[in-house]
Amino acid sequence: ESAEKSGFDDFMSKEILEQPGALRDTLAGRLASSGELILDETTSDPDSLARINKVFIVACGTSYHAGMVAKYAIEHWTKVPVELDISSEFRYRDPVVDERTLVVAVSQSGETLDTLAALHEAKNLGAQTLAVCNVVGSSMARLADTVMYTRAGPEVGVAATKTHTAQIGALLLLALNLARTKGQLYPSEIDALYEELTLVPAKIQEVLNSWDAIGEVAKRFSGSSRFYFIGRHVGYPVALEGALKLKEISYLPAEGYPAGELKHGPIAMLDEMAVVVAIATRTRLYEKIVSNIEEVRARNSSVIIIGNPGDEGQANLGESFISVPRVHPLFAPLVDVVPLQIFAYHMARNLGMDVDRPRNLAKTVTVE
Ligand code: G6P
Repeated sequence: ESAEKSGFDDFMSKEILEQPGALRDTLAGRLASSGELILDETTSDPDSLARINKVFIVACGTSYHAGMVAKYAIEHWTKVPVELDISSEFRYRDPVVDERTLVVAVSQSGETLDTLAALHEAKNLGAQTLAVCNVVGSSMARLADTVMYTRAGPEVGVAATKTHTAQIGALLLLALNLARTKGQLYPSEIDALYEELTLVPAKIQEVLNSWDAIGEVAKRFSGSSRFYFIGRHVGYPVALEGALKLKEISYLPAEGYPAGELKHGPIAMLDEMAVVVAIATRTRLYEKIVSNIEEVRARNSSVIIIGNPGDEGQANLGESFISVPRVHPLFAPLVDVVPLQIFAYHMARNLGMDVDRPRNLAKTVTVE
């Protein structure tokens, strides 16, 4: 096992640091000169995507958060409505699905029982199906009409990291391809966006270079016992994922919220003991998240800001500012989630936790 860690203390740190390569490999060579998405396996006829009038995304855990980013991107670029479901809910309600629905199962392992069952259900209902998985030949890959692999390489750490950013990359490509099929974006626009997306791995590398600086922030808050992660628009799934990472490996109470929802409950929990991590990069609702942070400050909670260069001084909004490069607003989750993974990693290590094998959790859940 120590050989596989190639000199790293644990798999989690190795896998966080592998993200630029994992994303680069997932994106590489995916767009044909015709502008078409190159999938790994498909039995669907090429016109079937054009008939899609609704998309369902089903997933669990970290994969669900990647699916949530995809919802924003697909609806923005394609105008096709997207429903997002936790797999274990999808299969037991009455989802309105037919042959013009594309059901996308997102799963690192391709084996999560609830997502596999949701995929079965989607097929039974006559939907077109796509699996976005990291494991070649997995059950979901074999069951779905079409497969798009994330090429992140094996992930050993129970808490998903590099497969998450690879999933977001894959799903953004799916969104661009759907936009092409639906005639919502010009080929030149798709080319430009794809080009811009391929620059993101280098931006992630910049964040990784702040590994120690993020460790210092974690040290500062290592005595804190209550965390709230807030974000808006695509910062919302990032907030959910940041909270999940912290919970999974450090066992600290952490919740993710859409920042606009603070006033409907969570604000009652805010006091000088609470730490709020705000995803405040320059995406669509930057001004709104700034005003949400002001609401938090008024309750004397500590604030850690994930922001873009140039915004460090913004009205002294937070105790700590973690700077991440600015990218296209819909690509921001790929960059913004990385400091949260690193933060959770340091918090857990400082508490002496086993980051690769957190208690009570399994890498792949094959039971209901
Ligand atoms: C477990 C893992 C998570 C993962 C989730 C979904 O809970 O601990 O890291 O996100 O399953 O797994 P999947 O393989 O379907 O992405």
